[in-house]
Amino acid sequence: MPADLPLNDGSALPALGFGLYKVAPDETGAVVAAGLEAGYRLIDGAELYGNERELGEALRRAADAPGFDREALTVTSKFWGEASQEPAAVRAAFDASERAVGRIDVYMIHWPRPARDRYVDVWRALVELHREGRVRTIGVSNFTEQHLERIIGETGVTPAVNQVESHPWLPQRELRAFHARHGIVTQAWSPLGRSRVLEDPTIGAIAERLGVSPAQAIIRWHLQTGGALVPKSTHPHRLRENLDVDRFALSDADMAAIAALETGERTGTHPDERN
Ligand code: A2P
Repeated sequence: MPADLPLNDGSALPALGFGLYKVAPDETGAVVAAGLEAGYRLIDGAELYGNERELGEALRRAADAPGFDREALTVTSKFWGEASQEPAAVRAAFDASERAVGRIDVYMIHWPRPARDRYVDVWRALVELHREGRVRTIGVSNFTEQHLERIIGETGVTPAVNQVESHPWLPQRELRAFHARHGIVTQAWSPLGRSRVLEDPTIGAIAERLGVSPAQAIIRWHLQTGGALVPKSTHPHRLRENLDVDRFALSDADMAAIAALETGERTGTHPDERN
Protein backbone atom coordinates (compact mmCIF):
# COMPACT_ATOMS: atom_id res chain seq x y z
CA MET A 1 0.00 0.00 0.00
CA PRO A 2 1.68 3.26 -1.08
CA ALA A 3 2.13 5.93 1.61
CA ASP A 4 -0.48 8.69 1.98
CA LEU A 5 0.33 12.15 0.65
CA PRO A 6 0.10 15.07 3.09
CA LEU A 7 -2.37 17.79 2.09
CA ASN A 8 -2.16 21.54 2.71
CA ASP A 9 -5.27 21.37 4.95
CA GLY A 10 -3.53 19.10 7.48
CA SER A 11 -5.17 15.87 6.29
CA ALA A 12 -3.72 13.22 4.00
CA LEU A 13 -4.73 11.58 0.74
CA PRO A 14 -4.24 7.91 -0.16
CA ALA A 15 -1.95 8.06 -3.20
CA LEU A 16 -3.72 5.28 -5.07
CA GLY A 17 -7.48 5.02 -5.38
CA PHE A 18 -9.88 3.72 -7.99
CA GLY A 19 -12.17 5.75 -10.20
CA LEU A 20 -15.84 5.30 -11.06
CA TYR A 21 -15.92 7.23 -14.35
CA LYS A 22 -17.58 5.06 -16.99
CA VAL A 23 -18.64 2.46 -14.45
CA ALA A 24 -22.28 1.66 -15.22
CA PRO A 25 -24.74 2.15 -12.35
CA ASP A 26 -25.63 -1.55 -12.33
CA GLU A 27 -21.94 -2.50 -12.05
CA THR A 28 -21.03 0.07 -9.42
CA GLY A 29 -22.01 -1.95 -6.35
CA ALA A 30 -19.83 -4.88 -7.38
CA VAL A 31 -16.88 -2.65 -8.35
CA VAL A 32 -17.00 -0.75 -5.05
CA ALA A 33 -17.27 -4.00 -3.06
CA ALA A 34 -14.32 -5.47 -4.98
CA GLY A 35 -12.26 -2.31 -4.49
CA LEU A 36 -12.88 -2.27 -0.75
CA GLU A 37 -12.16 -5.99 -0.55
CA ALA A 38 -8.85 -5.42 -2.37
CA GLY A 39 -7.89 -2.81 0.23
CA TYR A 40 -8.39 0.54 -1.54
CA ARG A 41 -8.90 3.51 0.76
CA LEU A 42 -9.86 6.11 -1.85
CA ILE A 43 -12.84 6.07 -4.21
CA ASP A 44 -13.06 8.74 -6.87
CA GLY A 45 -16.65 9.57 -7.74
CA ALA A 46 -18.53 12.54 -9.21
CA GLU A 47 -22.04 13.73 -9.90
CA LEU A 48 -21.35 13.38 -13.63
CA TYR A 49 -20.58 9.67 -13.36
CA GLY A 50 -24.24 8.96 -12.66
CA ASN A 51 -23.54 6.27 -10.06
CA GLU A 52 -23.39 8.13 -6.73
CA ARG A 53 -26.58 6.51 -5.45
CA GLU A 54 -25.14 3.05 -6.19
CA LEU A 55 -21.82 4.09 -4.58
CA GLY A 56 -23.71 5.14 -1.44
CA GLU A 57 -25.68 1.88 -1.37
CA ALA A 58 -22.44 -0.11 -1.67
CA LEU A 59 -20.85 1.88 1.16
CA ARG A 60 -23.88 1.31 3.38
CA ARG A 61 -23.71 -2.43 2.68
CA ALA A 62 -19.95 -2.41 3.44
CA ALA A 63 -20.61 -0.58 6.72
CA ASP A 64 -22.67 -3.56 7.92
CA ALA A 65 -19.63 -5.85 7.68
CA PRO A 66 -17.48 -6.28 10.78
CA GLY A 67 -14.23 -4.31 10.76
CA PHE A 68 -15.32 -1.69 8.20
CA ASP A 69 -13.71 1.64 9.06
CA ARG A 70 -15.37 4.55 7.25
CA GLU A 71 -12.87 6.95 8.83
CA ALA A 72 -10.05 5.24 6.95
CA LEU A 73 -11.81 5.77 3.62
CA THR A 74 -11.68 8.88 1.41
CA VAL A 75 -14.58 9.41 -0.99
CA THR A 76 -14.50 12.16 -3.60
CA SER A 77 -17.28 13.95 -5.42
CA LYS A 78 -17.16 16.82 -7.91
CA PHE A 79 -19.37 19.78 -8.78
CA TRP A 80 -20.50 19.51 -12.39
CA GLY A 81 -22.58 22.69 -12.73
CA GLU A 82 -23.96 22.26 -16.23
CA ALA A 83 -27.15 24.25 -15.59
CA SER A 84 -25.84 26.84 -13.16
CA GLN A 85 -22.62 28.00 -11.58
CA GLU A 86 -24.37 30.06 -8.88
CA PRO A 87 -23.29 29.49 -5.26
CA ALA A 88 -26.79 28.14 -4.47
CA ALA A 89 -26.37 25.56 -7.22
CA VAL A 90 -23.03 24.48 -5.75
CA ARG A 91 -24.68 23.95 -2.37
CA ALA A 92 -27.61 22.08 -3.88
CA ALA A 93 -25.24 19.82 -5.84
CA PHE A 94 -23.11 19.15 -2.77
CA ASP A 95 -26.21 18.35 -0.69
CA ALA A 96 -27.48 15.95 -3.36
CA SER A 97 -24.13 14.15 -3.67
CA GLU A 98 -23.80 13.94 0.10
CA ARG A 99 -27.30 12.49 0.41
CA ALA A 100 -26.55 9.91 -2.28
CA VAL A 101 -23.09 8.89 -1.07
CA GLY A 102 -23.64 9.35 2.67
CA ARG A 103 -20.51 11.41 3.24
CA ILE A 104 -18.15 13.30 0.96
CA ASP A 105 -14.53 13.65 2.13
CA VAL A 106 -13.08 15.52 -0.85
CA TYR A 107 -15.14 17.90 -2.99
CA MET A 108 -13.79 19.32 -6.25
CA ILE A 109 -14.81 21.67 -9.04
CA HIS A 110 -15.02 19.19 -11.93
CA TRP A 111 -14.03 21.61 -14.74
CA PRO A 112 -13.18 25.32 -14.63
CA ARG A 113 -15.43 26.09 -17.65
CA PRO A 114 -13.41 29.27 -18.28
CA ALA A 115 -15.73 30.68 -20.96
CA ARG A 116 -18.44 31.00 -18.30
CA ASP A 117 -15.93 32.79 -16.06
CA ARG A 118 -17.61 31.71 -12.81
CA TYR A 119 -15.00 29.37 -11.35
CA VAL A 120 -13.72 31.88 -8.78
CA ASP A 121 -17.21 32.14 -7.27
CA VAL A 122 -17.66 28.39 -7.43
CA TRP A 123 -14.35 28.05 -5.56
CA ARG A 124 -15.60 30.53 -2.94
CA ALA A 125 -18.66 28.30 -2.42
CA LEU A 126 -16.37 25.28 -1.84
CA VAL A 127 -14.28 27.34 0.61
CA GLU A 128 -17.51 28.09 2.53
CA LEU A 129 -18.46 24.40 2.66
CA HIS A 130 -14.99 23.64 4.01
CA ARG A 131 -15.15 26.42 6.61
CA GLU A 132 -18.52 25.12 7.79
CA GLY A 133 -16.96 21.69 8.30
CA ARG A 134 -19.22 20.03 5.70
CA VAL A 135 -16.20 18.56 3.88
CA ARG A 136 -12.68 17.68 5.00
CA THR A 137 -10.82 18.64 1.83
CA ILE A 138 -11.56 20.87 -1.15
CA GLY A 139 -9.82 20.76 -4.47
CA VAL A 140 -10.23 21.30 -8.16
CA SER A 141 -10.03 19.21 -11.30
CA ASN A 142 -8.80 20.10 -14.77
CA PHE A 143 -7.41 23.46 -13.66
CA THR A 144 -4.45 24.90 -15.56
CA GLU A 145 -1.78 27.05 -13.95
CA GLN A 146 -3.69 30.14 -15.05
CA HIS A 147 -6.97 29.00 -13.42
CA LEU A 148 -5.13 28.08 -10.23
CA GLU A 149 -3.31 31.40 -10.07
CA ARG A 150 -6.60 33.20 -10.36
CA ILE A 151 -8.49 31.36 -7.59
CA ILE A 152 -5.49 31.52 -5.26
CA GLY A 153 -4.96 35.22 -6.02
CA GLU A 154 -8.63 36.20 -5.65
CA THR A 155 -9.58 34.07 -2.61
CA GLY A 156 -6.27 33.46 -0.81
CA VAL A 157 -7.19 29.77 -0.53
CA THR A 158 -5.06 27.19 -2.32
CA PRO A 159 -6.78 23.94 -3.36
CA ALA A 160 -5.38 20.83 -1.67
CA VAL A 161 -5.58 18.73 -4.85
CA ASN A 162 -5.83 19.27 -8.60
CA GLN A 163 -7.05 16.19 -10.44
CA VAL A 164 -5.91 16.33 -14.08
CA GLU A 165 -5.39 14.01 -17.00
CA SER A 166 -1.89 12.60 -16.70
CA HIS A 167 -0.04 9.52 -17.93
CA PRO A 168 3.35 8.88 -19.54
CA TRP A 169 2.29 10.60 -22.79
CA LEU A 170 1.03 13.62 -20.84
CA PRO A 171 3.22 13.89 -17.74
CA GLN A 172 2.12 17.49 -16.98
CA ARG A 173 5.66 18.40 -15.93
CA GLU A 174 5.14 22.18 -15.71
CA LEU A 175 1.81 21.89 -13.93
CA ARG A 176 3.31 19.42 -11.44
CA ALA A 177 6.17 21.87 -10.76
CA PHE A 178 3.60 24.63 -10.15
CA HIS A 179 1.70 22.29 -7.80
CA ALA A 180 4.93 21.52 -5.92
CA ARG A 181 5.64 25.25 -5.47
CA HIS A 182 2.13 25.80 -4.07
CA GLY A 183 1.75 22.63 -1.99
CA ILE A 184 -0.97 21.16 -4.23
CA VAL A 185 -1.15 17.38 -4.71
CA THR A 186 -1.42 16.21 -8.32
CA GLN A 187 -3.99 13.44 -8.76
CA ALA A 188 -4.02 11.83 -12.20
CA TRP A 189 -7.21 10.84 -14.02
CA SER A 190 -6.93 8.52 -16.98
CA PRO A 191 -3.59 7.46 -15.47
CA LEU A 192 -3.32 4.53 -17.89
CA GLY A 193 -4.29 6.77 -20.82
CA ARG A 194 -7.70 5.00 -20.86
CA SER A 195 -5.69 1.81 -21.42
CA ARG A 196 -3.98 3.11 -24.59
CA VAL A 197 -0.61 3.65 -22.89
CA LEU A 198 -0.67 -0.02 -21.81
CA GLU A 199 0.25 -0.86 -25.42
CA ASP A 200 3.33 1.36 -25.44
CA PRO A 201 6.37 -0.83 -26.29
CA THR A 202 8.72 0.98 -23.88
CA ILE A 203 6.25 0.36 -21.04
CA GLY A 204 5.90 -3.23 -22.20
CA ALA A 205 9.66 -3.81 -22.15
CA ILE A 206 10.07 -2.32 -18.66
CA ALA A 207 7.11 -4.33 -17.34
CA GLU A 208 8.44 -7.55 -18.83
CA ARG A 209 11.90 -7.06 -17.33
CA LEU A 210 10.40 -6.43 -13.89
CA GLY A 211 7.92 -9.30 -14.18
CA VAL A 212 4.92 -7.02 -13.71
CA SER A 213 2.04 -5.91 -15.95
CA PRO A 214 2.16 -2.71 -18.04
CA ALA A 215 -0.54 -1.25 -15.78
CA GLN A 216 1.57 -1.92 -12.70
CA ALA A 217 4.64 -0.30 -14.34
CA ILE A 218 2.63 2.83 -15.19
CA ILE A 219 1.08 3.02 -11.72
CA ARG A 220 4.53 2.73 -10.20
CA TRP A 221 5.72 5.60 -12.46
CA HIS A 222 2.92 7.82 -11.14
CA LEU A 223 3.75 7.00 -7.53
CA GLN A 224 7.49 7.57 -8.04
CA THR A 225 6.79 11.01 -9.53
CA GLY A 226 5.21 11.82 -6.15
CA GLY A 227 1.66 12.09 -7.44
CA ALA A 228 -1.66 10.42 -6.68
CA LEU A 229 -3.81 8.56 -9.21
CA VAL A 230 -7.22 6.94 -9.74
CA PRO A 231 -7.11 4.17 -12.36
CA LYS A 232 -10.46 2.68 -13.32
CA SER A 233 -11.27 -0.97 -13.74
CA THR A 234 -14.47 -2.94 -13.53
CA HIS A 235 -12.57 -6.23 -13.10
CA PRO A 236 -11.82 -7.38 -9.53
CA HIS A 237 -8.55 -9.07 -10.57
CA ARG A 238 -7.35 -5.83 -12.21
CA LEU A 239 -8.37 -3.77 -9.18
CA ARG A 240 -6.17 -6.11 -7.10
CA GLU A 241 -3.34 -6.05 -9.65
CA ASN A 242 -3.34 -2.24 -9.75
CA LEU A 243 -2.90 -2.06 -5.98
CA ASP A 244 -0.07 -4.61 -5.95
CA VAL A 245 2.75 -2.18 -6.75
CA ASP A 246 4.84 -2.20 -3.57
CA ARG A 247 7.08 -5.14 -4.30
CA PHE A 248 9.09 -3.60 -7.15
CA ALA A 249 10.50 -0.20 -8.14
CA LEU A 250 11.41 1.55 -11.37
CA SER A 251 15.09 2.48 -11.69
CA ASP A 252 16.27 5.98 -12.62
CA ALA A 253 16.85 4.63 -16.13
CA ASP A 254 13.26 3.33 -16.30
CA MET A 255 11.95 6.70 -15.11
CA ALA A 256 14.07 8.46 -17.76
CA ALA A 257 12.84 6.09 -20.49
CA ILE A 258 9.23 6.80 -19.50
CA ALA A 259 9.92 10.55 -19.35
CA ALA A 260 11.00 10.32 -22.99
CA LEU A 261 7.53 9.05 -24.01
CA GLU A 262 5.92 12.47 -23.64
CA THR A 263 3.88 13.38 -26.73
CA GLY A 264 1.34 15.71 -25.13
CA GLU A 265 -1.43 13.46 -26.41
CA ARG A 266 -4.69 13.71 -24.45
CA THR A 267 -7.45 11.14 -24.16
CA GLY A 268 -9.88 13.82 -22.95
CA THR A 269 -10.75 17.46 -23.44
CA HIS A 270 -8.35 20.35 -22.86
CA PRO A 271 -9.57 22.35 -19.83
CA ASP A 272 -9.86 25.55 -21.86
CA GLU A 273 -12.18 23.87 -24.34
CA ARG A 274 -14.91 22.55 -22.06
CA ASN A 275 -17.78 24.84 -21.18
P1 A2P B 1 -11.58 -2.44 -17.49
O1 A2P B 1 -12.43 -1.44 -16.75
O2 A2P B 1 -12.32 -3.24 -18.50
O3 A2P B 1 -10.76 -3.30 -16.56
P2 A2P B 1 -7.76 4.86 -17.13
O4 A2P B 1 -7.84 4.60 -15.65
O5 A2P B 1 -6.46 5.42 -17.60
O6 A2P B 1 -8.92 5.64 -17.66
O7 A2P B 1 -7.83 3.42 -17.83
C1 A2P B 1 -8.97 2.63 -17.69
C2 A2P B 1 -8.94 1.55 -18.74
O8 A2P B 1 -7.84 0.67 -18.47
C3 A2P B 1 -10.18 0.72 -18.70
O9 A2P B 1 -10.48 0.40 -20.06
C4 A2P B 1 -9.78 -0.52 -17.92
O10 A2P B 1 -10.52 -1.64 -18.38
C5 A2P B 1 -8.33 -0.66 -18.28
N1 A2P B 1 -7.51 -1.25 -17.19
C6 A2P B 1 -7.46 -0.86 -15.90
N2 A2P B 1 -6.59 -1.60 -15.20
C7 A2P B 1 -6.07 -2.49 -16.07
C8 A2P B 1 -5.12 -3.52 -15.95
N3 A2P B 1 -4.52 -3.81 -14.81
N4 A2P B 1 -4.82 -4.24 -17.08
C9 A2P B 1 -5.43 -3.98 -18.27
N5 A2P B 1 -6.34 -3.01 -18.44
C10 A2P B 1 -6.66 -2.26 -17.35
